[in-house]
Amino acid sequence: MTDARQGLTGLLDTEAIRKDFPILDRTVHDGKKVVYLDSAATSQKPRQVLDALNAYYERHNANVHRGVYTIAEEATALYEGARDKVAAFINAPSRDEVIFTKNASESLNLVANMLGWADEPYRVDRDTEIVTTEMEHHSNIVPWQLLAQRTGAKLKWFGITDDGRLDLSNIDEIITEKTKIVSFTLVSNILGTVNPVEQIIRRAQQVGALVCIDASQAAPHMVLDVQALQADFVAFTGHKMVGPTGIGVLWGRQELLEDLPPFLGGGEMIETVSMHSSTYAPAPYKFEAGTPPIAQAVGLGAAVDYLTSIGMERIHQHEKAITEYALKRLLEVPDLRIIGPTTAEDRGAAISFTLGDIHPHDVGQVLDEQGVAVRVGHHCARPVCLRYGIPATTRASFYLYSTPAEVDALVDGLEHVRNFFG
Ligand code: ALA
Repeated sequence: MTDARQGLTGLLDTEAIRKDFPILDRTVHDGKKVVYLDSAATSQKPRQVLDALNAYYERHNANVHRGVYTIAEEATALYEGARDKVAAFINAPSRDEVIFTKNASESLNLVANMLGWADEPYRVDRDTEIVTTEMEHHSNIVPWQLLAQRTGAKLKWFGITDDGRLDLSNIDEIITEKTKIVSFTLVSNILGTVNPVEQIIRRAQQVGALVCIDASQAAPHMVLDVQALQADFVAFTGHKMVGPTGIGVLWGRQELLEDLPPFLGGGEMIETVSMHSSTYAPAPYKFEAGTPPIAQAVGLGAAVDYLTSIGMERIHQHEKAITEYALKRLLEVPDLRIIGPTTAEDRGAAISFTLGDIHPHDVGQVLDEQGVAVRVGHHCARPVCLRYGIPATTRASFYLYSTPAEVDALVDGLEHVRNFFG
C-alpha cells in the first residue's frame, strides 16, 4: 500500500457504505466487477433512497397540495418535508427559498427566464451584459446565449488558464457597471477546478450584479452553505447526490423570488385565474407549475438524510484523499496528460485526461472490457476541449463509495489500453 492509500484509513468506512449500493455488486463482461468511476455524470443510489421511493409509491402516492383525503395529505407532507430537508442541507434561511425543478439545467434556465421577463431593476436588455465562464457545462452557457439573443444583451465570459483555473486577471473589464448577472460553476465537471467564489462575488457586488452559482458538482461533495456563499441563486441536481433523476433545486434569495416573474404557467403556481389575467402564488409555488416530481423529491429527501448521516465534511475529505491518490497514480502513466489542476488543492473529484493520441472513445471501450466505467467525450463542456485543442477527454470521477483499489483498477486498465494500442 502506498502512503496515500494508508492515509485514507479511517476517513470513511467505504466497505460498509458500499453495502448500501446494490449496483456496486454488479459484474459485467463475464464476471468482471463493475468499477464505477462516473459519479460526476450520475451517482449510484443507496438502498435507503430506493426504499423511500418504493415506500412512497406503495403507501402514499397521491397528488400534492390538492387532496383532502389521508394519503394525499401524507404525500403533501412527504413532498414538503423533502423541501425542509433540502433547506437545512444548504443552510437556507427559509424553506420558501427552495424551488424544486427537474434538474440543474432547468434551474439555470429558470433564472435566465426570470431575468428575461423581469422589470427594472433586474431586467436584462440590449444595454446590459451577462457574464459566464469558458469552464461551464453547456447548461450554464446555452440559457445565457438564448437570453442574450432574445434581449440583445452582450454575453461575456472569463477564460481559462493553462493549468485549468479561471483567468480572473481582467475581472474588472469582464464584470462592469453594465453587468446584470454573473453565472459560474463552483466546481468544473470536466476540469475538477474549484473556483474562487469570494473574489467573483466581491466584484459582482461592487457593480450591483446578481450572482448565480451552478453547484451541481459541489452539492454532492462538500458542505454547501448558501448563506456563507452569499450568491443570489444556487442551482444543483438530485441525481448526482445519491438521489433519483428528475429532481433539481434552485435556491434563490427570498426578496428576489418575491419580485421576479414566473417562467412556466400552470396549475398550483397561481393565486387566482380569470380569462383576462392571473395572480400568482408566493414563492416557491410561483415557480413550480404543474404536478411536481413528488416521488423524486421524496427520494432527494432520503438522499439528503443519507449524506447527512455520513457527514459532508467527511465525504469531502475522503474524496480529497482519493483524488490525491488518483492524481499521483495517473501522473505515473506514460503519455497521460491531465486536463485540469494536477494537485488536490481547490479541486473536486473529477479527473479528465488524454492518453497519447489514443481517442478517448477507444480508451473508454477498452476500460469497459475491464469493468471500469468512465465517461468519454466533451462532457457537455465543449468550449473547454476547444480551449485545450483536444476533441474529447476520458474522465474518471469519484464519490463516497470510491476506493483506492478502484483507482488501481483504472490505472491497470490504462495499461491494457496502452498495450492494446501499442
Ligand atoms: N453533467 C454531467 C457530466 O458532467 C452529465 O457528466
